[in-house]
Amino acid sequence: MNKYLNSNQTNCPAWFNEGLEHIWLPYTQMKTAPPPAPVSHTDGVRIFLEDGRILIDGIASWWTACHGYNNRHIRSCIESQLKKMPHVMFGGLVHQPALKLAKRLTSKMPSSLNRVFFSESGSVSVEVALKMSIQYWVNNGYPKKNKIIGFLGGYHGDTFGAMSVCDPEEGMHKLFRGSIPDQYIMKLPQTNKDIEEIEFFLSNNASKCAAMIVEPLIQGAGGMVMYDDEVLIRLRNLCSKYDILLILDEIFTGFCRTGNFYAFESAEITPDIVTLSKALTGGTIPLAATVASKNIYDAFLSENAEFALMHGPTYMANPLSCAAANASLDLFEIEPRLEQVYKISLQMSEELDCCLTIPGVVDVRVKGAVGVVELEGEIRIDWLREKFLQELVWIRPFRNIVYLTPAFTISEQDLSTLTSSIYRVVSSWSQKK
Ligand SMILES: Cc1ncc(COP(=O)(O)O)c(C=O)c1O
Repeated sequence: MNKYLNSNQTNCPAWFNEGLEHIWLPYTQMKTAPPPAPVSHTDGVRIFLEDGRILIDGIASWWTACHGYNNRHIRSCIESQLKKMPHVMFGGLVHQPALKLAKRLTSKMPSSLNRVFFSESGSVSVEVALKMSIQYWVNNGYPKKNKIIGFLGGYHGDTFGAMSVCDPEEGMHKLFRGSIPDQYIMKLPQTNKDIEEIEFFLSNNASKCAAMIVEPLIQGAGGMVMYDDEVLIRLRNLCSKYDILLILDEIFTGFCRTGNFYAFESAEITPDIVTLSKALTGGTIPLAATVASKNIYDAFLSENAEFALMHGPTYMANPLSCAAANASLDLFEIEPRLEQVYKISLQMSEELDCCLTIPGVVDVRVKGAVGVVELEGEIRIDWLREKFLQELVWIRPFRNIVYLTPAFTISEQDLSTLTSSIYRVVSSWSQKK
């Protein structure tokens, strides 16, 4: 069998080889990467490949498909919406699915967070959050308060503003130096000393800072780093003390992933802006939201047109996406998602713990429905990914992180298959190392 992406695959449908010549894949060295696996369909927690193999999905398509794939309720709501109106522009026009969704999303947040701006991807919702923060201060007469504080290990997306607040390695700051805005990237505080350092920085620089952005409780794509409520509380306090807006990026953590509907609930804090996406539509259609507090929204109200938020993605609030998101919220209301997350959490803790005995495993950690096995040293990711495929599971490690973020509807047995595959694959990695 041919090994690389740029060579013909023998046992694949014609569209695969023909189309592959014209596609550019994400995060992929197109010269050397092994070929992607062609998928024919998905259902529940299963991915059906064109060659007949069936994979159990451990990562729910980048954490989106929280109710499993092809959920009947979401599908039928999208289908009904499709018959009425697949799309209409959102400038000067509105529709029921979007307004209903805005009301429902904010009803689960503290009452001050009451305005929703829709977009089509997580990265864009972060761009909107950054723009809102900077313009909030401009509109209030502080145009120099325009820098953003981000954190090492943070990941907020791949567009330029979002990249500027990611970990410098993850955001490839060095490749794009001069093209992305310079921001302040700090160490995520773990100790009193770290907090003191941030406070010292703020006492000198708050007049230049519009906002701080952080992923609550788990830094996802930057390394699946987990931290406690207390850190969030302290960051909230610092932002309040130094008059800086707090943006919580819930794109990974929102919708029960960490064990609460929104991750920040457990810290009982109120952010100024929240970004949402990923599981918002239950993994069916793109949609993102930036939720702002009344205080921020009010700063954009003026007789002067220039005070308005000048942003408007063409497909914002797409009715099909909003219908999918409303259907997904129905499922959160009628099905026991938090209980399922709790059970997944317990099971992953029990079943992944044995990985700690494997030489080369430096940490095993679980929070909510996120389970992580962290490996030591340089890892050949393609080798690991191939081994998981051979086990008929879809687990896609990055850097030195092997992780599970399964659908909340996964059965105990399927989850055990995933955790035992991790044990086997990581053991064989350890032996050959
Ligand atoms: C916390 C966080 N923010 C933002 C993004 C970017 O979202 P998108 O890929 O939809 O642009 C991601 C994607 O992984 C994310 O995990």
